[in-house]
Amino acid sequence: IVFAGRSNVGKSSMLNRLFNRKNLARVSSMPGKTITINFFKVENDVRIVDLPGYGYAKVAKGEKRRWAEMMEGYFQSPRNIKLVVQLVDMRHKPSEDDYIMMRFLQDAGLPFIVAATKSDKLNKTQYNERKNALREELAEFGDNITILPFSSEKGEGAEELKKIIEGVL
Ligand code: GTP
Ligand code: MG
Repeated sequence: IVFAGRSNVGKSSMLNRLFNRKNLARVSSMPGKTITINFFKVENDVRIVDLPGYGYAKVAKGEKRRWAEMMEGYFQSPRNIKLVVQLVDMRHKPSEDDYIMMRFLQDAGLPFIVAATKSDKLNKTQYNERKNALREELAEFGDNITILPFSSEKGEGAEELKKIIEGVL
């Protein structure tokens, strides 16, 4: 199970919430901190892959190249990827980098769902607005794509996401 998303979107927080371990993945206040691919074994045959975040503006060119090379290296080898959980910030339209990532997943034929993070930061009106808007913003990935509001803070979506993951294993 692979977790992808831009820097600071809440990947490490999600992993800590889902797998119920404090500091399994380091939560950073400094975006761009997770610059390696982290693998966690959660069951005998199940590996969680925390991809390094992308799209952090202040990252130097050399770092960006390193990120791209790491991704190529990762996806070029046979991986037996059961599911990619693509994180986007629920508050905003997906970034250009998010679209590049999702189009790559789509073109590579990798099964993916979208988790819309930080849902707790929206009030009810904004929440409903963004939920509907995301459906349209992600229309190119098909009407059937799963879009799951998620909050590491409040736990929204955690049980559902666990079920989805169990379902593909
Ligand atoms: P990098 O490893 O730097 O790429 O970031 P990341 O995607 O792992 O994000 P991380 O989990 O470190 O979270 C970044 C910041 O967002 C931290 O300050 C978190 O506390 C906060 N955050 C993450 N998820 C949520 C959420 O669901 N709700 C709220 N309110 N804050 C969140
Ligand atoms: Mg992280």
